[in-house]
Amino acid sequence: MSQDTLKLSVARAALAFVPEGKILGVGTGTTANFFIDELGKIKDRITGAVASSEATAARLRSHDIKVLDLNDVSAIPVYIDGADEINQQGTMIKGGGGALTREKIIASAADKFVCIADESKLVSTLGAFPLPVEVIPSAHALIARKLLPFGGKPILRMNGQAPYQTDNGNFILDIHQLAITNPVALENEINNMPGVVTVGLFAKRGADICLLGAAGGVKTLTFQ
Ligand code: A5P
Repeated sequence: MSQDTLKLSVARAALAFVPEGKILGVGTGTTANFFIDELGKIKDRITGAVASSEATAARLRSHDIKVLDLNDVSAIPVYIDGADEINQQGTMIKGGGGALTREKIIASAADKFVCIADESKLVSTLGAFPLPVEVIPSAHALIARKLLPFGGKPILRMNGQAPYQTDNGNFILDIHQLAITNPVALENEINNMPGVVTVGLFAKRGADICLLGAAGGVKTLTFQ
């Protein structure tokens, strides 16, 4: 079974979590894109969506789904998004697609975080996937040096010859070869560095539920 088939299966399963007559938070990435396309078929169930990136906002609009500014919304009952890695506690690495900061903001505003992923994303120790850190451009070299003691290798994400720019106009350092043994402590320490906008480690606010696409069907993992 292809990875895309697994992503489509979890995207379809996630429709069961779309709240009736409410606003939905929608994530970013290839799995989220499958979900948006499925959401388009039942778009009248929600009053609108808050998007975690410009790309997601555009895809939602292409299905005539109303996109709302987070500032104009008082409650997000459910947020549905993918992950680059997720462990058995619901802690995730996110930001492979560069949208980590808005994803973390919407996750913090949402009552329930439903992660959708194919089974390749489930890991016992987080960190094989490079951990993204969104940084203020003028501080990227400083922060890269300050990240070195954590043991990984921070590399500035590029887009051709130029640094990759997030929707917020910032840069991303991807920390390679990191074995994350204490995710909450690491999230706190990196987030506390001046110049860091956010780290793509979702430990303090992880997923509540993960719909995991496997060859035998969609598995539901529930976290506390
Ligand atoms: C976007 O910034 C990311 O957090 C994505 O949610 C994550 O990378 C998962 O993406 P895929 O579904 O494309 O693997």
